[in-house]
Amino acid sequence: MIDLTDDTWWRTAVIYQIYPRSFADSNDDGIGDLPGITSRLDHVASLGADAIWLSPFYPSPQRDGGYDVADYRDVDPHFGTLDDFDALIRRAHSLGIRVVVDLVPNHTSSQHVAFQAALRAAPGSPERALFHFRDGLGEVGHLPPNDWECMFEGSAWTRVFEPDGQPGQWYLHLFDESQPDWNWDDPRVRDDFETTLRFWLDRGVDGFRVDVCDALVKAPGLPDWPHPTHGVVEPIEGRMPPMWDQEGIHEIFRAWRRILDSYEGSRILCAEAWLPPERTARIVRPDEMNQAFNFAYLEQLWDAEAIGATITASLAANEAVGAPTTWVLSNHDVMRHASRFGYEGLVALEHGVGSDDPQPNRELGLRRARAATALMLALPGSAYLYQGEELGLPEVTDLPDSTRQDPIWERSKRRIRGRDGCRVPLPWDHTTGSYGFSSVDADKTWLPIPVYYAPLSVASQVDVPHSTLDFYRSALEIRRRLQLGGGKVVWTNHPKTGFVSFRNGNITVIANVSGTSSALPEEAKIVLTSDPSTANTRIIHPNMTVWIQD
Ligand code: GLC
Ligand code: CA
Repeated sequence: MIDLTDDTWWRTAVIYQIYPRSFADSNDDGIGDLPGITSRLDHVASLGADAIWLSPFYPSPQRDGGYDVADYRDVDPHFGTLDDFDALIRRAHSLGIRVVVDLVPNHTSSQHVAFQAALRAAPGSPERALFHFRDGLGEVGHLPPNDWECMFEGSAWTRVFEPDGQPGQWYLHLFDESQPDWNWDDPRVRDDFETTLRFWLDRGVDGFRVDVCDALVKAPGLPDWPHPTHGVVEPIEGRMPPMWDQEGIHEIFRAWRRILDSYEGSRILCAEAWLPPERTARIVRPDEMNQAFNFAYLEQLWDAEAIGATITASLAANEAVGAPTTWVLSNHDVMRHASRFGYEGLVALEHGVGSDDPQPNRELGLRRARAATALMLALPGSAYLYQGEELGLPEVTDLPDSTRQDPIWERSKRRIRGRDGCRVPLPWDHTTGSYGFSSVDADKTWLPIPVYYAPLSVASQVDVPHSTLDFYRSALEIRRRLQLGGGKVVWTNHPKTGFVSFRNGNITVIANVSGTSSALPEEAKIVLTSDPSTANTRIIHPNMTVWIQD
């Protein structure tokens, strides 16, 4: 059972992200679901994670993998029922695992009843005021109201046909046109989300991961922004982009925090905001959200100086507001880190890869991924893992283009392949149907599972010494036992360049990010290594990390 009196669990927690469509399928339709998750929670428990975060499972047309929510207070029939959700929470809590769910407050699905009502209502009506409807520019209103671009390519505005059949107003969508943005200036939107928070809190959830939380409030008048809108956002010419990180977001978070704090136990808010560390830190001030993803860390190249600088900057920015730092290397939006590190230099995180693109070096990628993970899990604070990284799964870079579902693929006129390659279902064993994910064949699951996933399955790695799964379990076990999550980073100078080296408690962490090897003293007590050969050779080869205990 979880300990409801523990109000600091999240400061050091390892939180395992589950993408419900791709975790486990219980009813053989090729789509993962809630009962499937419940049946596999022992995997998460034996890994040693403290909590799971579930990506959206709410009713949705699935135009953006469920981040287009049509009803915030129910379960999509593909994923099960509210009873299934209750069963999932009960099972998780009985295993000592907390449950964080996704809150998607910036936008809804165009199928949401409120948006459908807005389409039927007149310009200027209260129904339309829940969204950002505007008249178009140009003589006949045929041009979008401003120059904003959506995150998935193209204009952030779509023109509607009015009930009389004539082209009419435009509505704002920072993402797909099927994802209209809510107007957070309208108190009815605020009230409705508070109802949603209470709905899930009453059902026992331990927190919310808050999707694109920095976009809720837009600058008054929706001024033009003739600069890029994508990626980590920084002020340009003294102005923040009018759609990101506006001051008004903070009072919303404070109101939410008051609601969470009124519940028993310690329930948390985790911010998804692609902002620089010092801006992200403002969201985790003591009366706002509890934690925020540290995307600056995720975006780091395999470069010792850059890694060291990002760790220092992240710790400093969070310490200044008294919040724990978080660390993350993979999620459902970016190329899996076992593939990302298989390229030299920058890769476009969300662009995806197809068969005709340069392919990552899989061996190098996995080797560096394990080293990067060992480094991350020795850092104080909270860490987020993405399902399948504990198996060393690579990005699927050869998905047939006909199976792609990420809206960016079509919106970019098939130029940007998008994020499907990191969302392929998990392999649980190497024999049955779709490798234990479902009983249908591996080419019949919602995204096909490649044959090279089979030898990486859970069953193939469990209890296999030095498998990636075994390595993750050891790392989490030691991290917990030595309380590294609650520790402190003390930098140590490694004599060679290209090494990242620090102490946390009585552990010295050395990551070799250089091209040359370094020998360890004979007496060094290695408690974790990302490369099993070191235990005998006592050499820190390139692209590996060791933990040494005093
Ligand atoms: C977040 C989600 C991503 C989604 C987008 C729009 O970035 O993580 O998957 O497409 O928001 O909701
Ligand atoms: Ca299913």
